[in-house]
Amino acid sequence: MNQKNVTTEKIITTDISQIHDLISDDMTSVNKLIEVSLSSDVPLINQLGQYIINTGGKRLRPALVILSSKIFSYQGSQHINLAAIIELIHTATLLHDDVVDASILRRGQKTANQRWGNEASVLVGDFVYSRAFQMMVNVDSLRIMQILSEATNTIAEGEVQQLINRNKSETSENNYLNVIRNKTAKLFEAAAQLGAVISNKTAKEEKAMATYGRHLGTAFQLIDDVLDYSSSESELGKNIGNDLSQGNPTLPLLYAMWNGDKNQAKIIRNSIANGGLKNIALIKDAINSTGAISYTAKIAYQESELAINALNQLPSSKYSDALYSLAKFSVQRHN
Ligand code: IPE
Ligand code: IPE
Ligand code: MG
Ligand code: MG
Repeated sequence: MNQKNVTTEKIITTDISQIHDLISDDMTSVNKLIEVSLSSDVPLINQLGQYIINTGGKRLRPALVILSSKIFSYQGSQHINLAAIIELIHTATLLHDDVVDASILRRGQKTANQRWGNEASVLVGDFVYSRAFQMMVNVDSLRIMQILSEATNTIAEGEVQQLINRNKSETSENNYLNVIRNKTAKLFEAAAQLGAVISNKTAKEEKAMATYGRHLGTAFQLIDDVLDYSSSESELGKNIGNDLSQGNPTLPLLYAMWNGDKNQAKIIRNSIANGGLKNIALIKDAINSTGAISYTAKIAYQESELAINALNQLPSSKYSDALYSLAKFSVQRHN
């Protein structure tokens, strides 16, 4: 999985631990800040908060904030706060998302909703969102507040749009792409953009970073939707087939329906309408025989190339190499 392509000038890797190594001091500060930020006098908040934070996660979005500020040689300390805020927003969306998706496994462990129930997960999710907003106020920048509040609002829109599409087999590819741009890519976009904003860069550089983040996030979610059909619980740390069981019309499923034979199309249409895993073996066959995985992966690859193109407008350094690697990782990843 971890491929290395060593050239004379730079090391390109899809091993994200190497990317984290490059920014390990900052990431240690970010993780400490996240931990402190989630403390509360209310024991359940502490318990649930520490549980979700300490079960890990790839910390991609905070890494993106750090890398995007390092690209511009940012010298202050706001990047640490912003990275923690972004990861808290992500964490809150996961707490809510796992309730909505009735997920039972997250980061290799029981989901918070499975352990503490839906009510606790929703309410602690609210705590985590609002803690992120308290921290944003302390950053004391209206511009940053604007970017982060807009991103948070857009994620909520995306999750609701996805809920509306649930059980709808007539969902189009464009509609699907619109959902994933909102629910996932928008936070990647904000994370990448923030480094340029705190470094007082020009509109052109800010836009290049935002474009990079948006395409990276879109590729990332496309592959997430592929992995839901092609990975394993042990590798992914999430329950597989979750989208199918919820009747979520993701691209791999839609493509198999559009290109399968009559019988396959009918079974998939019914599965989207009713959810459940009853026909998963047959549906996986249809996904394989129609090339639905490679089609979705191809779109993800195109998105990651668009992300890489945006990097060309930025100064070249080991940090931009790391962003290049992240774009590659987003399509080659297995977890
Ligand atoms: C999960 O994101 C939600 C999606 C947008 C697919 P990640 O895969 O980044 O989750 P963690 O933080 O590493 O667990
Ligand atoms: C959720 O997408 C993305 C969020 C913004 C929370 P998914 O529902 O596909 O994410 P997973 O698979 O549960 O991590
Ligand atoms: Mg989910
Ligand atoms: Mg998923």
